[in-house]
Amino acid sequence: MRVLVIGQGAREHAIVRSLNNDPNVTKVFAAPANAGIAIEAIALNFSATDVSAAITAAKENLIDLVVIGPEVALAAGMADEFAKNKIACFGPTKAAATIETSKAFAKEVMKIKNIPTARSFQCSQIEDVKAALDEFGPPYVIKDDQLAAGKGVVVTSDLAEAINHATLCLEKINGKVVVEEFLEGKEVSILFISDGLDVIPLSPAQDYKRAFDKDLGPNTGGMGAYSPVDWINEELIEEVKTNIAQPVIDHLQEVNSTFVGVLYVGLIITKQGPKVIEFNARFGDPETQVILARLQTPISEIFLNAVNQNLKNQTKLIWSKQSAVTVIRAAAGYPENPQTGDEISLPINSSDGYILHAGTKLTGEKLVSNGGRVLSVVGIGDDLAAARERAYQLNSQIVYKNSHFRTDIADMER
Ligand code: AMP
Ligand code: GLY
Repeated sequence: MRVLVIGQGAREHAIVRSLNNDPNVTKVFAAPANAGIAIEAIALNFSATDVSAAITAAKENLIDLVVIGPEVALAAGMADEFAKNKIACFGPTKAAATIETSKAFAKEVMKIKNIPTARSFQCSQIEDVKAALDEFGPPYVIKDDQLAAGKGVVVTSDLAEAINHATLCLEKINGKVVVEEFLEGKEVSILFISDGLDVIPLSPAQDYKRAFDKDLGPNTGGMGAYSPVDWINEELIEEVKTNIAQPVIDHLQEVNSTFVGVLYVGLIITKQGPKVIEFNARFGDPETQVILARLQTPISEIFLNAVNQNLKNQTKLIWSKQSAVTVIRAAAGYPENPQTGDEISLPINSSDGYILHAGTKLTGEKLVSNGGRVLSVVGIGDDLAAARERAYQLNSQIVYKNSHFRTDIADMER
């Protein structure tokens, strides 16, 4: 089978790696590849939002299956075009992806299906924002309605900062914000594979979204993750599947927006039980790096069962008993203003530790930084502590000035 992966982050590098380890996959193509992906896949040169280039490339290279990584490709309607061209594609249509691309739509679906989430107000005027902030009190949670690469959410006790963020969001074309009640509890991401009818949970992961140690600084796309999550049991996963993931997929089916791909459920486990803080219509980054590090079922089998609406016949997924931890090495200035073009020198990968690339490229022979999140260092071990130690040990061997990383991934309780 020949597979094309769309996207250029560490998430896509992890997907490429899994496909390369899959006996059913003969060739892996990727676009637009970073420097690491280009070593492990045949690199094609078009952007993740260039739908017509993607269709042409898939036809020219006799692609059997396309896997879409980033939300921008979904929002550009890439899956819709592959469907029109009868090319199998793992990733939802633009309409189905609205569950991620509009927070207001997601709230609407949760209301219809009675899915537990934070109380919220949708606002398009700053006066309404102020009233909503006043109603909930601090800490304030303000979410940009539109896609913002993980940076659209501000949680703060500073009213001026909350109002400032809302103002910036409202200034955008069709600007809207969701003001939400603050939820207390631990956070976890549970990703579900869906074929539009059924859902299958992947092993949970925890993401660290804040830029700096001790959960300080601004929200980012994610600074590290670990899996499995020992405080999440099978019963809770089943509850999230039955009361949250399945009703979302059912709703989308009912409105003729069949969802094929990954439904990412971001949760806070409150005293009253799990409540949704976000949905994504794709694999999470960095969660995917640690989830796929442990998945032993050939990934193409799962993708094919999803695109063929055959998940009810999927055999039970097999997971390694080991733990995985990833630490993101980000460019200086990330998330606000990442510095690019810095030289990087990498140590050698091994089976218990390897480096996935995100924002990297080659300039001549030199590996240089080319984005905000630059590398995702993965450590594997018999338990979380061993995986963590391996990830940080490998990270310490990377020579990359002008970068930063968190030192408390998989250590800090949150
Ligand atoms: P999101 O992109 O919606 O997952 O939000 C980014 C981060 O903001 C989450 O990982 C949480 O840490 C935090 N957050 C979002 N919504 C809430 C909420 N209602 N209560 C508390 N924290 C939240
Ligand atoms: N790690 C969160 C996300 O992928 O949006």
